[in-house]
Amino acid sequence: MSSSSSMDCASSKDKEAAADPPRAPWWTGETVAVVTGANRGIGLALASRLAERGLSVVLTARDEARGEAAAAAIRDARPPGLGAVRFRRLDVADPASVAAFASWVRDELGGLDILVNNAGVSFNEISTNSVEHAETVLRTNFHGAKMLTEALLPLFRRAPTTSRILNISSQLGLLNKLKDPALRRMLLNEAALTERDIEGMVSRFLAEVGDGTWRGRGWPEVWTDYAVSKLALNAYSRLLAARLAGERVSVNCFCPGFTRTDMTRGFGKRTAEEAGRVAAGLALLPPRDLPTGKFFKWRTPQLYSKL
Ligand SMILES: NC(=O)c1ccc[n+]([C@@H]2O[C@H](COP(=O)([O-])OP(=O)(O)OC[C@H]3O[C@@H](n4cnc5c(N)ncnc54)[C@H](OP(=O)(O)O)[C@@H]3O)[C@@H](O)[C@H]2O)c1
Repeated sequence: MSSSSSMDCASSKDKEAAADPPRAPWWTGETVAVVTGANRGIGLALASRLAERGLSVVLTARDEARGEAAAAAIRDARPPGLGAVRFRRLDVADPASVAAFASWVRDELGGLDILVNNAGVSFNEISTNSVEHAETVLRTNFHGAKMLTEALLPLFRRAPTTSRILNISSQLGLLNKLKDPALRRMLLNEAALTERDIEGMVSRFLAEVGDGTWRGRGWPEVWTDYAVSKLALNAYSRLLAARLAGERVSVNCFCPGFTRTDMTRGFGKRTAEEAGRVAAGLALLPPRDLPTGKFFKWRTPQLYSKL
C-alpha cells in the first residue's frame, strides 16, 4: 500500500471515529428494530447497519422474494455472532398487510423497540413534476407510514430505554416549500393543529389533482406529490411526538439528502450506505441524547418554523 493510500485509510477511520464515538450501547441482541422498504436503497443499508450493531432486525419488504434475498445477503455478509436478521412481508400501503404484520409482531416478537418508516415512492425523474401517481405516493409515503405507526404503537416496549420511531422524510416537504399562507398558518399553529387538519390538507391536494386545479395553488414546486406526502408526514410526526410526550416513545424525522438510489435514478451526492449509517446513528442515539419532534437534515435538527 502506498503511503498516500494508507493516509487516506487512516483519515477515513478518523472521520468514522469522530462521527460515531464508541459508547456502551443501550441496546442488546433482544432489541427489535423494524425497517420498512428494506430490500434496497437506504432501507437495506440501514437494516444492514443495525444488524452490524447487534440488534435483532426485522427487514420488511412488499415483495417476498426480494425481501428474502436482501435479508439473506445481510446474513451472509455480517460477521458471525452479531444481530439476527429476519424477513417479514409488509406492504405499507395495504391495510390488510399492515394488520397482519402488527399481529405477527405482537404474537411472535412480543413487541418492538425501533420503527423506521423508510418505505417510499416517487414516480418523477429528477427534473419532471408529474402528479399522475399522486394517490399512490400519498398512500405509501404518508398514509402507509401513519397506518403502520398507529398499528404498532401499542406494541412498543418503552422500557428500559425509550422506544423510537424514525420517519425517513425529505426536506422537499419542509414548510418553507409551501407557499399557501393559510396552510402555512395552519401547520405552524402547533397548539391548534390536528390530524384531521393534516388529512384535510392531503384530501384537498388529491381533489385538486383529480380536477386538474393543483397548479398555482401554493403547493411545493418540486416533485409536488412527493413533497406534499413528506409535508404531511413531517406534520404528523410533530403531532405524534407531542401526543406521546412523557410516554417513552420518541418520534423524529430524517432527511438523508440527495442520495444515489433507484428513487433518484442513481443520481445524488452520497451513497445509500452513507445515508443508512447516519440514519442508524440517529435511531440508536443514547436515551439521554434522544430528542423528540425533531427533523434531522443529515445530523442537524432543523428549526420548527421550517418543519
Ligand atoms: N434517495 C434520496 O435522495 C432520498 C432523499 C430524501 C428522502 N428519501 C427517502 O428515503 C426513503 C428510501 O428511499 P430510497 O432512496 O432508498 O428509495 P428506493 O431505492 O426507491 O427504495 C424504496 C423502497 O421502498 C419500498 N416500497 C415502496 N412502496 C412500498 C410499499 N407500499 N410497501 C413497502 N415497501 C415499499 C421499495 O420496495 P420495492 O423494491 O418493492 O419497490 C423499496 O424497498 C424514502 O422514504 C425516500 O422518500 C430519499
